[in-house]
Amino acid sequence: MNTSNDLNINNKYKVLFVCLGNICRSPAAQGIFEHIVRENGMSDKFEVDSAGTYSGHRGELPDRRMRNAALYRGFALTHKARPVSGLDFLDFDLIIAMDDQNYEDLMHLAPSVEATHKIKKMAQFLTTHKISYIPDPYYMGAEGFGLVLDLLEEGCRNLYERISKAVL
Ligand code: 4NP
Repeated sequence: MNTSNDLNINNKYKVLFVCLGNICRSPAAQGIFEHIVRENGMSDKFEVDSAGTYSGHRGELPDRRMRNAALYRGFALTHKARPVSGLDFLDFDLIIAMDDQNYEDLMHLAPSVEATHKIKKMAQFLTTHKISYIPDPYYMGAEGFGLVLDLLEEGCRNLYERISKAVL
């Protein structure tokens, strides 16, 4: 957890969620985390965004299957997909990778050793689920989207608790 930056210049703690396409897992994580932040009355303390390591879905809303599955749980996903940029490593306090490939790609993109310290894996915030990555639901059925949302809800709640204890 990067606490050295604490609340940055804008007085906000900035979290970026990253997956491959930025149309399934990371926009869902963003929507869930934003929901938790709002629930806690902390919207003025956080900036939350998501991005993809692959740029092919740039400008698209999240995959309809993910939007529907998330909305059923009360999370409205409105993010428009964008690729990760070099500036993100300066701008954000914490960059959360969904799987090992995303993590490796981010480690290669990071412009400095200091920037690599901001990169964490989402699965490290799971407690009840014994899985080391957030699986890509793109080629899965409805159960895949449900599982991903279960993992992200738990991971985001634990992540929020960790940040709020360390930083807020
Ligand atoms: P995401 O899922 O990384 O969770 O957004 C994917 C979305 C699109 C593709 C792969 C994964 N794709 O190959 O287009």
